[in-house]
Amino acid sequence: MRSNHVRLNCGITMPLIGLGTYSFPNYRKTTELAVHNALEMGYRHFDTAKIYGSEPALGKALNEAICEEEVEREDIFLTSKLWGSDHHNPVSALKQTLENLGMEYLDMYLVHWPVKLKPWVNYPVPNEDDFEKLDLETTWAGMEKCLEMGLCRCIGVSNFSSKKIECLLDYASTPPAVNQVEMHPMWRQGRLRKTCGDHKIHVSAYSPLGGPGNAWGSTAVVNHPIIRSIAFKHKATPAQVALKWGLSKGSSVIVKSFNQERMKENIGSFDLKLDNEDILEIEKLEEMKIMRGEFHVNETTSPYRTIQELWDDEI
Ligand SMILES: NC(=O)c1ccc[n+]([C@@H]2O[C@H](COP(=O)([O-])OP(=O)(O)OC[C@H]3O[C@@H](n4cnc5c(N)ncnc54)[C@H](OP(=O)(O)O)[C@@H]3O)[C@@H](O)[C@H]2O)c1
Repeated sequence: MRSNHVRLNCGITMPLIGLGTYSFPNYRKTTELAVHNALEMGYRHFDTAKIYGSEPALGKALNEAICEEEVEREDIFLTSKLWGSDHHNPVSALKQTLENLGMEYLDMYLVHWPVKLKPWVNYPVPNEDDFEKLDLETTWAGMEKCLEMGLCRCIGVSNFSSKKIECLLDYASTPPAVNQVEMHPMWRQGRLRKTCGDHKIHVSAYSPLGGPGNAWGSTAVVNHPIIRSIAFKHKATPAQVALKWGLSKGSSVIVKSFNQERMKENIGSFDLKLDNEDILEIEKLEEMKIMRGEFHVNETTSPYRTIQELWDDEI
């Protein structure tokens, strides 16, 4: 099955369902096998980040499939992300990412968080003294350089609020093509979707199921009685309802499963048809942000003293 696509403001198209590759613990062989299985099922969009540690396994599996002529590089959409410690030099960080992946270019390179860390901070949860003064204008100029050098086809951001998007647009020569953020039936991002829509920036949904099974995730979405009853009505699964809701809002969904049955189930969400009344029921659910980003907040060295500051009150 081939996935549907969205055209981005940078002119290229992106498959609407992407396979997430963050897993903890991060087992190389498990990731490689999942990527091979995903390609066979029709996944063509893959999401990684330097900080996930999944670039080598993802790249190896993709390169094997390309060598075996199971797929062409041009048919794959590959995203990775600039970690906070690499804001000093996005070009050299992206070259390292490409080496990890064994690829000549990325389709999308995202600023992972609006946070700058000291150059040696290659771990996901920074310590209080790991932060540096944020200078997104310089970081974004480095991202634009990556684009000019042909190291990636598009650039974007992740975890940016409406306010941060609008500030970035004040000085960006190239606007971001994507803002990848948490989005699911219980964190619907109404205001951010409107801001991004006004500026033709595509909103890509991470943790579209609420991350059940992740240490920091929640089963609230897939166990919600309303989501379950909509799934029951359509002979679908709660995960399919959550994914189809995200797709129905025009977003792409980056969903992680390394389990063959659930991977099939997730890509099968395209075939589900939700009624208007299902969408209205979902719009009434209580909202709950799961990835709050507390680890990027402190009262001394972070640019954000509170999570309200990190998200500019969109929390
Ligand atoms: N930009 C960012 O800051 C950021 C942050 C978080 C995530 N991401 C990206 O987004 C991807 C997805 O986010 P996520 O992993 O946090 O959340 P998610 O995709 O909502 O949830 C993943 C979890 O749900 C389970 N799962 C998958 N399909 C399921 C199904 N059909 N039914 C029940 N459980 C299911 C998975 O376990 P199994 O593998 O056992 O199926 C896994 O534990 C990540 O892998 C990463 O690539 C980006």
